[in-house]
Amino acid sequence: MRLDKFTLRGQEAIQTAIEAAEKQQNQQVEPSHLLFAMLEQPEGIVRPILGKLGANVQVILNDVQAAIGRLPKVQGGQQYFSPGLSQVFTAAQKEADSMKDEFVSTEHLLIAIADAKDDNAGKIRERTLMAKLNVNGKTFDVQAEADTPLLWIIREHVGLTGTKYGCGVAQCGACSVHINGELQRSCSIPLGSLKAGDKIVTIEGLSPNASHPIQKAWAELDVPQCGYCQSGQIMAAAALLKKNPKPTDQDIDQAMTNICRCGTYQRIRAGVHLAAGQPNGSRAAAPATSKS
Ligand code: FES
Ligand code: FES
Repeated sequence: MRLDKFTLRGQEAIQTAIEAAEKQQNQQVEPSHLLFAMLEQPEGIVRPILGKLGANVQVILNDVQAAIGRLPKVQGGQQYFSPGLSQVFTAAQKEADSMKDEFVSTEHLLIAIADAKDDNAGKIRERTLMAKLNVNGKTFDVQAEADTPLLWIIREHVGLTGTKYGCGVAQCGACSVHINGELQRSCSIPLGSLKAGDKIVTIEGLSPNASHPIQKAWAELDVPQCGYCQSGQIMAAAALLKKNPKPTDQDIDQAMTNICRCGTYQRIRAGVHLAAGQPNGSRAAAPATSKS
């Protein structure tokens, strides 16, 4: 391997990888050392790439560091590049050639490391999950870490922003969606827990043209105030009516634990009654007050 075939940043990464292996007294310089060196580069390209993939860089760094700690220690003598790392260099060179790039960069190295088999650094790819999601009847391919909350997949990857972030800990209900017909708080559903056949419905997919009885009642009674919590409220109300077409006030309070900082609870109840075709749905004029 000739160092002058690498960009300056690439050479720097290789040098740092050698130093990392020496510092750890590891027998050989492994792809893990190189990945660690590239992740540590303050202006490197690796962190932004992983960031775009939705990967948690700190988690990967910790994993790689732990993997380096488990490598065999040197018995004396000099470290050499492991066969795995030599393969990475060859693959990176090929990648550069295929891109018609004159020099091998850290980007080529990263691609080669991600493709590396039988090495801890190769696990980088496993951390980012390719998933097929059915959202509002359409299939989306998303690539993100398995523990990414569904809320962020819906908002950032699928691009539907009607589902809101409130608390992030399944308390407020602003992020409510339906999964296979069940009401769920998407901030607390990790991507990795979903199956390919799961049907996810967001506020955008509840009905064509906002024609769901709950949406019509909401518009008629002017239920929202600031509106922030309302997509979650509507999803919760729609799920309630599906299970219980004629709910009482008590049923509504028990089923809908969504928080509204504007205190629209009485209008929400009236809206549910109206959508259910119940006479007391006319309590539209109830003021926005506390829940009780
Ligand atoms: S953001 Fe999910 S429950 Fe609050
Ligand atoms: S309408 Fe403002 S938070 Fe509910």
